[in-house]
Amino acid sequence: MNPIGVAVLGMGNVGAEVVRILQENATDLEARVGAPLELRGVAVRDVSRSRGVDPALLTDDPLELVQRDDVDLVVELIGGIELPRKLIRTALDAGKSVVSANKALLADYTGELAAAAADAGVDLYFEASVAGAIPVIRPLMQSLAGDVVNRVAGIVNGTTNFILSAMDETGANYMDVLTEAGRLGYAEADPTADVEGYDAAAKAAILASIAFHSRVTASDVYREGITAITAQDLQSAKQLGCTIKLLSICERIVDAEGAQQVSARVYPALVPLEHPLATVNGAFNAVVVEAENAGRLMFYGQGAGGAPTASAVLGDLVMAARNRVYGGRGPLESTYASLPAAPIGKVPTRYYVSMQVADRPGVLSAVANEFSRRDVSISTVRQEGGGGLTDGPDGARLVVVTHRAPDAALSETVAALKELDVVLNVASVLRLEGTNE
Ligand code: NDP
Ligand code: HSE
Repeated sequence: MNPIGVAVLGMGNVGAEVVRILQENATDLEARVGAPLELRGVAVRDVSRSRGVDPALLTDDPLELVQRDDVDLVVELIGGIELPRKLIRTALDAGKSVVSANKALLADYTGELAAAAADAGVDLYFEASVAGAIPVIRPLMQSLAGDVVNRVAGIVNGTTNFILSAMDETGANYMDVLTEAGRLGYAEADPTADVEGYDAAAKAAILASIAFHSRVTASDVYREGITAITAQDLQSAKQLGCTIKLLSICERIVDAEGAQQVSARVYPALVPLEHPLATVNGAFNAVVVEAENAGRLMFYGQGAGGAPTASAVLGDLVMAARNRVYGGRGPLESTYASLPAAPIGKVPTRYYVSMQVADRPGVLSAVANEFSRRDVSISTVRQEGGGGLTDGPDGARLVVVTHRAPDAALSETVAALKELDVVLNVASVLRLEGTNE
């Protein structure tokens, strides 16, 4: 068979591992594809740096590389939005299949890029864009194509899971652990996309689109990060038999009239210790899929890092190359259901509210009244500290956990609590997930 020409755009954490595997496993890959995969060029910013590849293959002109006649498949591992968008469009329009790990781009532009791939009759694969090495996009798109998925929830950001796990284990505060995560190479120089939840939100948009056959973009995803989580929150979580995880949740919501919507949301939440996601620690990721007939499926593994992510990229590359050799193509994007995005206010959630209150008679009923006025049922109340008889300057700490209620009712209750004279401050508000109540 004629060799398949491959261009790799970017030779950083992931690209360097893709190039290494392409070179080291060339014989096996040829046998699996049915034709040799030949590396025709590698685009980088700095061509003068020595890397584990023939320097003659390096170029700082990725646009020229993707247009070359001897390139059949393009692997985009540069990151960012506008440049890779242009490179991928150019490659697809020229009839070349594309593999990308770029979740930030795919969260917003899968529609445009998938349409270009469909027009050209080529593949656009992006398994590595969500949860690194863990196969989750292909199972959703292919293995569960005959089922009805109702929920996809998980931990899809390794950096924040490392931070929250370390805070839980050591009792350290957020800033100290963030510094440690940077030192160990988990957190990037600018960790904003991870710690503010943007990375997890992009992944939620990709998962929700596939799971619910609908177009969901990053702006449809409700997002909160982990920067406000304190060591005290993790301590309180422990006392409630929980830990705290940054969750990406994609859920089918059905209202009283039977109308369906998609809720995609990212926030730090209390998770009971007996829930499978509570045991996912360090930089690991896990995704739990609930489907009508398959039941509950859990995918677990390394969600980031060069070699694990490259494994997923190579899987896509082999699929795209096989299609080139034997004809045919992978499944087309499916958005036929067109479910609208549900606003967070409509989503039923449970709240944990921790507040500092005056420690005197009547405080509890004033607090409880704000919940009942909005039809929010309280599940548990716990008081920590305070003498019970005096109204000292620090008062007492009151922790309330609710039953499920519309998120809007819960957030209005919290706003009202902040206005009460007896509430000195609302120290933290978190949602509680992974329970049946
Ligand atoms: P890096 O920043 O490590 O690497 C980026 C690469 O792109 C570098 O080799 C850089 O060149 C090259 N590059 C940047 N700009 C240009 C340009 N204008 N022209 C040519 N080359 C350019 O990124 P990662 O490998 O970490 O990530 C790559 C992609 O994979 C991103 O989309 C990321 O979101 C995604 N991803 C990453 C994961 C991870 O664990 N790192 C996991 C899952 C997905 P130079 O080397 O000269 O600087
Ligand atoms: N920054 C991401 C994470 C990389 O920490 O999970 C993998 O997408």
